[in-house]
Amino acid sequence: MNFWWFWTSPPVVEEALDEDLPKLAEIHGLSFPHQWDEDELSRLKGQDGVMILEARRASPYGTRNPLGFIIIRSVAGEAEVLTIAVHPRSRGRGVGKKLMQEAIFRLYSDRCECLFLEVDSANDPAVLLYKSLGFRQIGERKGYYRNGKGDGTALVMRVDLR
Ligand SMILES: CC(C)(COP(=O)(O)OP(=O)(O)OC[C@H]1O[C@@H](n2cnc3c(N)ncnc32)[C@H](O)[C@@H]1OP(=O)(O)O)[C@@H](O)C(=O)NCCC(=O)NCCS
Repeated sequence: MNFWWFWTSPPVVEEALDEDLPKLAEIHGLSFPHQWDEDELSRLKGQDGVMILEARRASPYGTRNPLGFIIIRSVAGEAEVLTIAVHPRSRGRGVGKKLMQEAIFRLYSDRCECLFLEVDSANDPAVLLYKSLGFRQIGERKGYYRNGKGDGTALVMRVDLR
């Protein structure tokens, strides 16, 4: 068997399993000042309208090793990104974009009207990712983030799905 294929193949994106939550919590902790622990992720996963997608490499051993994840909540035809995070080792390789694209595809298939998110205006990688997917700024909240790099301004962004 050619194992190199597994390490170079594009990541798959699929719904997270309960057994993945500790690793997703670890990625969250490496990505944000306030970590959402396994219990918090489990509570979210159990809520109506919440979808947790993870990106992972296909493994020749059947092991699950998440590279990143996204959490979306949908209510009455509108959806919101609650969080998206990619392991620092796997950033800049298209994982975040793949997660967003798969989430948007699923929301579109579910006839969702639009997707919102909030992002720190100083978070260039995230803002550029969202703009590259068609999100546009529809508002801002000054002083929203306390631990950010910039002045704490949150941009409210939206993409129409219909
Ligand atoms: C934001 C984040 C999810 C992006 O994930 P990623 O896998 O590194 O992003 P991708 O490799 O898919 O990049 C997609 C696009 O985003 C932009 N981008 C991503 N990282 C970038 C960087 N360091 N500098 C500039 N642009 C960047 C580019 O437009 C890129 O498209 P391109 O490769 O065609 O030029 C990741 O940086 C992360 O986990 N950050 C910490 C958590 C966080 O800030 N989450 C967002 C909260 S709102």
